[in-house]
Amino acid sequence: MDVTKVGVLGAGLMGHGIAQVSAQSGLDVVLREVDQETLDKGVGKIEKQLGRAVEKGKLEQADADGVLGRIQGTTDCGDLADCDLVIEAITEDLDLKVEMWKELDGIVKDGAVLATNTSSLAVIDQAAATKRPEAFIGLHFFNPVQMMPLLEVIRTVTTGDEAYKTGLEFGAKLGKTVVEAKDKTGFIVNRLLVPYMLDAIRAFENGTGSIEEIDIAMKGGAAHPMGPFTLLDFVGLDTTKSIADIMFDEYRETRFAAPPTLRKMVAAGYFGKKSGRGFYDYSGEKPVAVDPGV
Ligand SMILES: NC(=O)c1ccc[n+]([C@@H]2O[C@H](COP(=O)([O-])OP(=O)(O)OC[C@H]3O[C@@H](n4cnc5c(N)ncnc54)[C@H](O)[C@@H]3O)[C@@H](O)[C@H]2O)c1
Repeated sequence: MDVTKVGVLGAGLMGHGIAQVSAQSGLDVVLREVDQETLDKGVGKIEKQLGRAVEKGKLEQADADGVLGRIQGTTDCGDLADCDLVIEAITEDLDLKVEMWKELDGIVKDGAVLATNTSSLAVIDQAAATKRPEAFIGLHFFNPVQMMPLLEVIRTVTTGDEAYKTGLEFGAKLGKTVVEAKDKTGFIVNRLLVPYMLDAIRAFENGTGSIEEIDIAMKGGAAHPMGPFTLLDFVGLDTTKSIADIMFDEYRETRFAAPPTLRKMVAAGYFGKKSGRGFYDYSGEKPVAVDPGV
């Protein structure tokens, strides 16, 4: 299937990025949100990003206008009817996603490919909720979508060759580094990355090093661009915990179990950078490590 029109559900952190990179690759995009205010926020983020690129001389104003012109914002699912590919990037909640696909199944044209950007849910549970599981794939982008080169393209047990090929070609069209992954919870990156971040918390809990020391050590000793606690705060402690819980449920391996410190910080509302406090406090000019003291 030659994709020329992409539907994106959710204009949050991931959805606005997916819409932007798709439009930047010359594709028409329909971006759907639940209400006008949330939609405007998402489109506003795209406008800001493009404006910054123009200011820095990386993009011509006419090209920025072209990208925005290719994105049609909507709150009406009916506008996704003639999309060739529909990607959901809505809240990580299986019931919400299934309910959304049940509605869209009767709207989106036959032959379209349906995709989920889920980080931790099994793709099959959404595919099986539609009447076209053979047309369903996973397209797992990374945050921020505009910057991160990788796209995991996931085949589940029901995925047909045609739909899978469409996913691989779509990734190439966006200029992403495409890797093929099986429908195993966490796919490749989170399966390796989440236990690593949880282990950093356990290392802190058992006194191996302080938050700062562990971050400095992994930057200087393993050449990571950021230490695990900075990364945890960036990903979001709530997000990390929910991915860990889902992976633990699936695999029953202790390496996926959320450590007590993480659970307590999430309960306290310390979600990381987005809430102003996680393993670091972001209220000052520079982030300062805070010992959670639990
Ligand atoms: N945040 C990450 O780093 C990351 C990375 C890769 C994948 N993901 C996955 O991407 C998805 C979205 O994550 P996010 O971080 O962008 O979440 P987010 O909370 O920033 O955005 C989700 C958006 O979906 C909207 N929404 C909810 N129901 C909807 C519906 N029926 N139709 C249209 N919009 C709807 C919400 O209003 C919200 O704006 C999740 O499945 C998550 O697992 C997240």
